Amino acid sequence: MAPRTVSLVSTLGLLSCLLSPVVAQTFSYCNPLKQDDCPAAPALGQNFTTNFTNQLSEKVWNTTNGIVDITEHGANFTINQRLDSPTLQSYFYIFFGTVEVHMKAATGRGVVSSIVIQSEVLDEIDWEWVGSDTNKVQTNYFGKGNTTSYDRGKTFDVPGAMDAFHNYTVNWTPEKIEWYIDTKLVRTLMYEEALGGKNFPQTPSTVRLGIWPGGDPLNKPGVIEWAGGEIDYSHSPYTMSVQQLKVVDAHSGKEYQYSDKSGDWQSIKVVGGVSDIANEINKPPAKSLAQRWRELPSAAKIAIFASIGGAVLLGMGVIAFCCVKQRRVGRREFSMENSKFVEDQNNVMAMRTQWSHKYKPVGA
Ligand SMILES: *[C@@H]1O[C@H](CO)[C@@H](O)[C@H](O)[C@H]1NC(C)=O
Ligand SMILES: *[C@@H]1O[C@H](CO)[C@@H](O)[C@H](O)[C@H]1NC(C)=O
Ligand SMILES: *[C@@H]1O[C@H](CO)[C@@H](O)[C@H](O)[C@H]1NC(C)=O
Ligand SMILES: *[C@@H]1O[C@H](CO)[C@@H](O)[C@H](O)[C@H]1NC(C)=O
Repeated sequence: MAPRTVSLVSTLGLLSCLLSPVVAQTFSYCNPLKQDDCPAAPALGQNFTTNFTNQLSEKVWNTTNGIVDITEHGANFTINQRLDSPTLQSYFYIFFGTVEVHMKAATGRGVVSSIVIQSEVLDEIDWEWVGSDTNKVQTNYFGKGNTTSYDRGKTFDVPGAMDAFHNYTVNWTPEKIEWYIDTKLVRTLMYEEALGGKNFPQTPSTVRLGIWPGGDPLNKPGVIEWAGGEIDYSHSPYTMSVQQLKVVDAHSGKEYQYSDKSGDWQSIKVVGGVSDIANEINKPPAKSLAQRWRELPSAAKIAIFASIGGAVLLGMGVIAFCCVKQRRVGRREFSMENSKFVEDQNNVMAMRTQWSHKYKPVGA
């Protein structure tokens, strides 16, 4: 009989030797229960909210596979072709806390959308959507990568899970894990219930969002069946969309360290301070060209205006060069660069307009 739910660790872990780029999201870089020299886990240590409408900071997110589209409406994770599985993984770790995701799962047989909270010792808390089951979500958990029993998954109704955005929230404490759908508590897992705590997720974890082809023929038959059957790539694209993410780390500090090989939450040492990632998150957004222009004294503006004609020409030259370069890098990056060009151009126009309101044009 096919397992009702399958851990990302087990399915993708098994596949990883075949397909390392596809399955990167469940790979533990260094398991502190098996190795001594693992780096400490940088802490979030605070709250973090994003709408995914700005270019992802490479210091906060690792796009561990594929390309995640950032749009004015949020992040899109799309399977366009065979074995695509765009996935984001936070560089920060939370040590208990809350993960609130507003998302619309992808439809399609064999298509799996996922939110995974996972540690380096393979503690895992999951939400998973199978694209052929359009009104359902599965919840699951694993402790220390123990997948010997597949009886932990529980499925819940979410009418329109793939038509509309819903609020999927996990509240994680040392005592219990709660899963909420649209503010309604649907599942509670007490520490003791999880094999006396042995299977209870309790170590610093990253947040991972992604889509993957559970129904790819390369997967084991049980996985394909769980994913609703073989994926039909001819009907792609399949897209999972995320509109909002709020992460609350229950601890504040700079990093988390394993003080022994027990994997118990009591063994985790919280080192005080603020991580580089938190500093990056708290950085004020970069000022736009127009903002910087507004802050300049008038004399400087006049001088700049005089040279703007030349600068625009020079800028166009640079952009022409970039475009050629970007084409080689890829169409998507190119279009991002292109929209940035439009934005910069608009900023230049705004400067000119603002200037002409204040001063009579120099040569006219
Ligand atoms: C972080 O989020 C929690 C839960 O929503 C809230 O209680 C707390 O006030 C927030 N902290 C900050 C600094 O915004
Ligand atoms: C980002 O993810 C890729 C793919 O899993 C991995 O090879 C790489 O080491 C990660 N980068 C960092 C800085 O952890
Ligand atoms: C893994 O979990 C199952 C219960 O789900 C349990 O019977 C088994 O002993 C656990 N294995 C280990 C190594 O803890
Ligand atoms: C999402 O659900 C959580 C859990 O019920 C709740 O605390 C939070 O306020 C909800 N978010 C929004 C934007 O309604």
